[in-house]
Amino acid sequence: MQFQPILDQINDEIRPLLGQAGTVASYIPALARVPAAQFGIAMRTCEGEEACAGDAATPFSIQSISKLFTLTLAMRRMGEVLWERIGREPSGNPFNSLVQLENEQGKPRNPFINAGAIAVADRLLNDGDAQRDLLAFMSSLAGEPIAFDEEVAASEAATGYRNFALANFMKSFGKIDHDVTPVLDMYFHQCALRMNCVQLARAAGFLCRDGAHPLGGAPAVCTERQTRRINALMLTCGTYDAAGDVAFSIGLPCKSGVGGGIVAVVPDQLTLAVWSPALDATGNSLLGLKALELFVAKTGLSVF
Ligand code: DON
Repeated sequence: MQFQPILDQINDEIRPLLGQAGTVASYIPALARVPAAQFGIAMRTCEGEEACAGDAATPFSIQSISKLFTLTLAMRRMGEVLWERIGREPSGNPFNSLVQLENEQGKPRNPFINAGAIAVADRLLNDGDAQRDLLAFMSSLAGEPIAFDEEVAASEAATGYRNFALANFMKSFGKIDHDVTPVLDMYFHQCALRMNCVQLARAAGFLCRDGAHPLGGAPAVCTERQTRRINALMLTCGTYDAAGDVAFSIGLPCKSGVGGGIVAVVPDQLTLAVWSPALDATGNSLLGLKALELFVAKTGLSVF
């Protein structure tokens, strides 16, 4: 299949829609300043063929997309033990909701809602320098240096009232081992990773290659079984309370972030990254989802 003309067509169809609907995340002040009328799309096949269109080289804050990479690190370090204190069920609630935690004794429903990702960050603090290790991991996957946007991390640390509440609540149930402050410092930094669509499509490449390193040569990122499980979690929980709709209309494992990015996987074939900062009510990129719908319609690719 010729992918470049398909991405060009999608870009041509999305551009006229920019600025018409959705709102940029405003609860993180540094994100509220990002111009909404931007759109990028990039993809990389298992064989390493790349294509991109629009603002695919413009870096943005990957936010919750980082949760799939920290989950990968935690799964390969901890194995099954990780799941003792983190569930694997869709929450059916907004990503920053507190309500389920009280009834469920501080055990987050899944690793992709904020509470779950904060719990994963806590586990990553058990070994070495978690922030440095995450940067090394991301840079290795993307094949180029990746950095934190310190302004975004500081902005979120100054205003992350809900995340402090979630972390303190889990701590009160004994579900967080470390002090809340370093756990949230790790979490705010992972969310503040700054990447573009091309880098993200590459970095997620292990998810369409049964865990093999996206750029080849290097040791596997994780096992085939772990890769299947990450993809399953992306499909069921990766877009929060929109996961059912996304499975219905797109049919691919996806992970979104409030920076407006979404990573999608076609297992054994390719990974895609789309970005457009204006979000819908569930915190997912409005035109990012539209672009993924167009991609599956034009290519016929789906896991179903
Ligand atoms: O913790 C937060 O609220 C943000 N740093 C990340 C949330 C997010 O990206 C949810 N995604 N759609």
